[in-house]
Amino acid sequence: MSEVSARTGINLGVAPVTYGTGDRPPRGNYARARSDYTCEQDHSTYTEAEHDTYRRLYARQLQQLPGLACDEFISAVRQLGAPDRIPRFEDVSERLMKATGWQIVGVPGLIPEEAFFALLAERRFPVTDWMRKPEEFDYVVEPDIFHDLFGHVPLLFNPAFAHYMQAYGAGGLKAGRLDACELLARLYWYTVEFGLIDTPEGLRAYGAGILSSAGELRHSVTASGPRRVAFDLRRLMRSRYRIDSYQASYFVIDSFEQLFEATAPDFTPVYAAVRARIAADGLVEAGAVLADEREFEVRAAQGS
Ligand SMILES: [Fe+2]
Repeated sequence: MSEVSARTGINLGVAPVTYGTGDRPPRGNYARARSDYTCEQDHSTYTEAEHDTYRRLYARQLQQLPGLACDEFISAVRQLGAPDRIPRFEDVSERLMKATGWQIVGVPGLIPEEAFFALLAERRFPVTDWMRKPEEFDYVVEPDIFHDLFGHVPLLFNPAFAHYMQAYGAGGLKAGRLDACELLARLYWYTVEFGLIDTPEGLRAYGAGILSSAGELRHSVTASGPRRVAFDLRRLMRSRYRIDSYQASYFVIDSFEQLFEATAPDFTPVYAAVRARIAADGLVEAGAVLADEREFEVRAAQGS
């Protein structure tokens, strides 16, 4: 770990080396960030090529949404503003504030967990302010402005999901004190990033990692390979996940209210129970289905 501590959440002007196992520090100019890691979005510095990358990414994802993304996402995505220019964060925040009391704030890139949790707990969602390079059009290693904005922000217009995200941040601050961030990270991964929701029309995606991905959106909802089982907090907290390929497992919620209610109670006893279960039985591998679990059937998606 660098001199920047994941625990203090104080920006010392260099990228935090707190995520993943790579030896390359996160991209982004951390010297411009404030002590809470937020920074001004300097909208005038985006080049026409960067606006064009945004426009092309947006168009590609938008045409895939019907039949694959949840209705709550589809109805809110236009709130991001004109699809042909990188939005101004302050414009999106103005609309978001009216809808759910959230705002978005610029950050130079990945930030330490505690700083991230603190922002969520204050209903401030950190959005990376840089755009991927054209050669990264199909895949970018770290979250860029397109992933953060297009993937994450539309659902913050949904009141139940907005509550969940704030509660997650508050829970994260507490998890840091309980040394349970790894367990909580699995919850984030399998819900906020790669979650599916069951609807009368069939499974739909709500996770940002899926919704901002060119290929995983259709794969997650329609492919026969991955396993899809019902959301279960304790099961999910002991499940491994993949960071370098499409997910082998997806967890399915019934509603955003279910997600909020399941994660509202104090997690202290949950962490203890999950730790005991991991000690006894180990982690569950990605792609595994347990004996008592029912898999969701895949139905042909509309619009495909
Ligand atoms: Fe994300």
